[in-house]
Amino acid sequence: QKLEMSLEAIEKGGFEHFMLKEIYEQPKVIEDSFRGRMSATDGWIKLGGVSEFSTKIDKAERFIITACGTSYHSGLLAEYLIEELARVPVEVEYASEFRYRNPIINETDVVIAISQSGETADTLAAIEMAKERQALIYGICNVIGSSIARVSHAGSYTHAGPEIGVASTKAFSTQVSILTLLALQIAQSKGTISTSKLRQILYELEHIPEKIEETLQLDGQIRELAAIYKDATNFLYLGRGVNFPVALEGALKLKEISYIHAEGYPAAEMKHGPIALIDEEMPVVFLATNQSAYEKIVSNIQEVKARKGKIIAIVNKGDTQIRNLADHVIEVPETEEVLSPLVTVVPLQLLAYHIAILRGCNVDQPRNLAKSVTVE
Ligand code: G6P
Repeated sequence: QKLEMSLEAIEKGGFEHFMLKEIYEQPKVIEDSFRGRMSATDGWIKLGGVSEFSTKIDKAERFIITACGTSYHSGLLAEYLIEELARVPVEVEYASEFRYRNPIINETDVVIAISQSGETADTLAAIEMAKERQALIYGICNVIGSSIARVSHAGSYTHAGPEIGVASTKAFSTQVSILTLLALQIAQSKGTISTSKLRQILYELEHIPEKIEETLQLDGQIRELAAIYKDATNFLYLGRGVNFPVALEGALKLKEISYIHAEGYPAAEMKHGPIALIDEEMPVVFLATNQSAYEKIVSNIQEVKARKGKIIAIVNKGDTQIRNLADHVIEVPETEEVLSPLVTVVPLQLLAYHIAILRGCNVDQPRNLAKSVTVE
């Protein structure tokens, strides 16, 4: 027993919990995920799986992404990335729904399955079905040699290293990194992106690890915020565009480990329901780093303020307009908009972590949840 304890302490590498260690590993593992797979200076990307099946992937008429849990959220984000950069239609499906509804799948479809463990029963069943219907299966897994990796025709490993905390953190960000490369590689070979834009995004991607490093330094500020809101019974997370899946992921993290009810919503959809919940007791986390929808987010924030909701805004460094409206701002380094989820998700992971700790929850092994769901 004693030996086991000290082994665990060694594995935690000085951190109190695996989840915190894994949050802090993100700069390194994101770098591992793109190392050798791209060069910003020379303007190339090479995911082995994409190159090997490039004829079929470049001609794909549609991408169908299937996954569960956090991996589903990186899939939703990939819909924005692939459609924006490579101009191919994308559908994102919960594996558990997709597999049972007799979906229309053609030979010209590429099905992307995303799974940290590579063992999720619903995701595995969904791709087996799609494979029978002649689609090309592209697996994005973390665990090497896992079932989904083996069943797929092609794929890319995320190289996040073992993820022990049940609530996924570094697996998510490495999935997003790979999906960004995938979207860019397809965009390059289809000619839907200019060389200068491609280089600019790759250059920014190379700088994401240091921007996450900088964001991790907000840990103390986020802990103080957690102390203020730890007794809230509900939380709302709102974002637009690429930050909408981040809002969903932020809410999921909080639910999973702190047992506070939380919902993620597209910011503009708030007026169709969640706005009815807003009063002075409701903390609302806004993801407000989008350059493209800035004014729209500002007006969403004003709508919450008018109803006395407590506003926590994740903004780009130097933002003044939202600072004047929000109760709290968390300033993160600015990056290319398509890459911003890699940065904005970090404060949400830390917020969920600190709230859970302050509530005395077991963050690494939350009640009722399993790391890998191999049954239906
Ligand atoms: C479980 C885990 C989640 C994970 C989901 C999908 O619910 O608790 O953290 O996101 O399964 O797992 P996968 O291994 O397929 O990514």
